[in-house]
Amino acid sequence: MDSILVTGNGPLSGQIPIAGAKNACLTLMPATLLSDAPLTLTNAPRLSDIKTMTTLLQSLGVEVTSLQDGQVLAMSSHDLTNHVADYDIVRKMRASILVLGPMLARHGHAVVSLPGGCAIGARPVDLHLKALEALGAELELKEGYVHAKASQGLRGGTVDFPFVSVGATENAVMAASLAKGGTVIKNAAREPEIVDLVQCLQKMGAQISGAGTSTIEVQGVDRLDGATHPVVTDRIELGTYMLAPAICGGEVECLGGRIELVKSFCEKLDEAGVAVEETKAGLKVARKNGAVKAVDVVTEPFPGFPTDLQAQMMALMCTAEGTSVLEEKIFENRFMHAPELMRMGAQIDVQGGTATVTGVERLKGAPVMATDLRASVSLILAGLAAEGETLVNRVYHLDRGYERVEEKLGHVGAKIERVEGQ
Ligand code: UD1
Repeated sequence: MDSILVTGNGPLSGQIPIAGAKNACLTLMPATLLSDAPLTLTNAPRLSDIKTMTTLLQSLGVEVTSLQDGQVLAMSSHDLTNHVADYDIVRKMRASILVLGPMLARHGHAVVSLPGGCAIGARPVDLHLKALEALGAELELKEGYVHAKASQGLRGGTVDFPFVSVGATENAVMAASLAKGGTVIKNAAREPEIVDLVQCLQKMGAQISGAGTSTIEVQGVDRLDGATHPVVTDRIELGTYMLAPAICGGEVECLGGRIELVKSFCEKLDEAGVAVEETKAGLKVARKNGAVKAVDVVTEPFPGFPTDLQAQMMALMCTAEGTSVLEEKIFENRFMHAPELMRMGAQIDVQGGTATVTGVERLKGAPVMATDLRASVSLILAGLAAEGETLVNRVYHLDRGYERVEEKLGHVGAKIERVEGQ
């Protein structure tokens, strides 16, 4: 298994191109199942999670052609040959559940294994299933698989989520696009990835309004067409690289970044003493003057502070002046990076969903273990600013969500290399 070796090397300077969003691409790809016409995605990120979704779609009979070094994905779901999403693929990635709604909507039946994914909490799929039931699906759980049926097709209904779920909103929107009649989705997620999905579905001919608000209305249509759609910028990759100059000093411009994707995050950076400037090409980030100050953070659904940036923000707080309190409200087990950061000399006290971080002057390099996708990158960020060498082990998580991390950080002056596993 590969590792990443990082050596603290002082301030960073230069530009980092930000890729298309992993999480948007993982819901745009299953949208191909809704139509017998081709769907082409541009600005796709080159990640192992995208390869896993490609393998899953291909197993269902979707033709997926990867062009321009993986940045363009041309898909056609003309003939689906299989309606079973197998455990061996689904267990690798939780987002696999996103094939359920579209397959059911277009074909009236689907069998999908219950997913795995990052070990950051229980992460059930009950909201996905309730949403599909509200649209008339009959569901049965057998031997780890969801068997879904809608013999007469799905029909519009009201989906009222008890709390916000990104994936369940995506499954509901896709399924409702081909249902008979109208659907109202209440307490819908408002993430930019939902807006991106809806824009793509609209290009395919779907009748949807309200994306980006908590009520989405869908008027089902008989058939959806093909489309070509660019994947929205990855706001989590953006936020991660914005933290690099905040942690190491220097100035980095993140190409393709836009404030509206990371507004609440930018507000926290501002409070901490990190300046973000909008440029023609993206966002330029540098410390305002001198030290970073401790700030408190609470993770929330969009437009609040993203849970997917909590680990990276904690890396910044490890060497900030003062004490910060980070509250994780989305996932119950998302501080697995804390003990690893403590191996590097960080002072962190975790009590349930709250981590109290007291800034130290400097972290010290150490061998550490990547435990999930965002935790891995937080350890790399911490290593960039630490004294000496940090070896981040088990980086397969990182490859799920960050394309060419060594290359991107290396370009702005970081000392970082991949060590091939035995
Ligand atoms: C998506 C993102 C993930 C991000 C998360 C929250 C993708 C591929 N992944 O994950 O990176 O961290 O949003 O912004 O887009 N829940 C239930 N029952 C359900 C569904 C969710 O209890 O049926 C719970 C989850 O355990 C979690 C909370 O709801 O505590 C929010 O999860 P959700 O928004 O659904 O996350 P994902 O869509 O899985």
